[in-house]
Amino acid sequence: MPKKTVKDIKLKGQRVLVRVDFNVPLDKETGEITDDNRIVQALPTIKYIIEQGGKAILFSHLGKIKSEEDKIKNTLAPIARRLSELIKVEVKFVPTTRGVKLEQAINDMNNGDILLLENTRFEDLNGKKESKNDPELGKYWASLGDVFVNDAFGTAHRSHASNVGIASNIDCVSGFLMEKEINFIGGAVSNPKSPFIAILGGAKVSDKIAVIENLLAKADKVLIGGGMNYTFLKAQGYNVGESICELERVDFAKKLLEKGKEKLILPIDIAVSKAFNNDAPFRYTSVTDIKADEMGMDIGPKTIELFTKALIGAKTVVWNGPMGVFEMDNYTRGTIGICKAIAELKDATTIIGGGDSAAAAIQFGYRDKFSHISTGGGASLEYLEGKTLPGVKVIQDCGKHCG
Ligand code: 3PG
Repeated sequence: MPKKTVKDIKLKGQRVLVRVDFNVPLDKETGEITDDNRIVQALPTIKYIIEQGGKAILFSHLGKIKSEEDKIKNTLAPIARRLSELIKVEVKFVPTTRGVKLEQAINDMNNGDILLLENTRFEDLNGKKESKNDPELGKYWASLGDVFVNDAFGTAHRSHASNVGIASNIDCVSGFLMEKEINFIGGAVSNPKSPFIAILGGAKVSDKIAVIENLLAKADKVLIGGGMNYTFLKAQGYNVGESICELERVDFAKKLLEKGKEKLILPIDIAVSKAFNNDAPFRYTSVTDIKADEMGMDIGPKTIELFTKALIGAKTVVWNGPMGVFEMDNYTRGTIGICKAIAELKDATTIIGGGDSAAAAIQFGYRDKFSHISTGGGASLEYLEGKTLPGVKVIQDCGKHCG
C-alpha cells in the first residue's frame, strides 16, 4: 500500500515537525562535514514545506552520545549553517532539545521559516530517552507541532522517540526522500523488473546473511565480490591465503553455492598483496593460485569483464558493498569497474543500497549515473533483507485519500 506524503496534507500555517537524517560524516580533526549528501537529499522536502507556507521544525541525530564530550563534538550547529547555505534561507538553530527557549522559538516562527533543534541524541545522556523511545519524550516532541513528516530513511530501522515516538502521537506522512527510498529499494525487493541482478560486496558474509538469502531468492543472478567472496572461495575448496575469511560461515557459503547454483557468480581473478597497505607490491592472479602469504584486496580485470557481461540486459540492479579495499588507490579498480558497468546499462533501474558502495560511487564521480543512491546504511541493508522498518511502518497508508 502506498504511503501518504507531504503532498497529501495541509501545510500553510502549520507547525510541521520533520525528522531528517543529518547524521553526516565529520572530519575527526576539524569537525568539518566531509560529505553533505544526506543534507542535500533532504532539501526537496524542506523546500516544499516552506514554499507551501509551513513552518519547518527539523529533528535529527548526529553520532552516538555517551558523554558530555560527545555533545561538544556532535552539536548540530554546523549542520544548521550548512543547511542554510544550501537552501539559501536562514535556519534558526536552537541549542536545546526541550524547554521554554525551544517552545518560544517555535511560537516566534513565521510561515516559511526553518528551525533546527539540537541533536536528538543529547536526550540519551538522560537515560537513553531518544534511543529507547521514551514515551514522554515522543509525546512532548509531538506536542510542538501540528503534523509530522518522516523523511529520515537512514534512521528508519531504529525505533526511536524522534521517529516512532512522535508518530505514535501525531499523524505521520513521508517526505520526498523517504518516498523515493521506499519506491526504489522497496520496489526492487518486492516487485523487480527482470532480469534482476544483485551485486553484493563488503567485508563479511555474516553482516549480510539475510540480504544474500533474500536476494538469492528474488534475483536472476547474484554477483559476489569484496571481502566476503573469500569465504565463498574457501567453500569452493580454494586456498585463500591471508585473505579475510570467516571460517564459521564456510558451511553457510557451501549451502548457498548448492542452492544458488549458476545464479551465484564469483570472482575468477583477484588482486593480491602480502600486506594490507597501498605501498606493498601487488599482483593479479587466478582465484586458484592465491599463495599462503597473500591476501585478496580487489577483484581483478577478468572478473570485472565477467561481471560486466553478466549485467548486460539487466532491468533492475541492486548493489550493496564495495568490490575491494577502495580506500587504497591500488584497489579502486574493481569498484570503479562495477560503477562503470552499471552506469552504461540502458533502460535499467539501478540502485545502490547505501553504505560504503554509495560513498564509493559518489567519490568516483558516479553520483548521477544511478537511478537511486540510498542515503541509508543499516536501514537499506535491513530493507534489502525484506524486513519491515519501524520508521516506514509508522507512516500512514494512503487509503482513498491520497493525491
Ligand atoms: C546511519 O548513519 O546509518 C543512520 O543515521 C543511523 O545511525 P545509527 O546507526 O547511529 O543509529
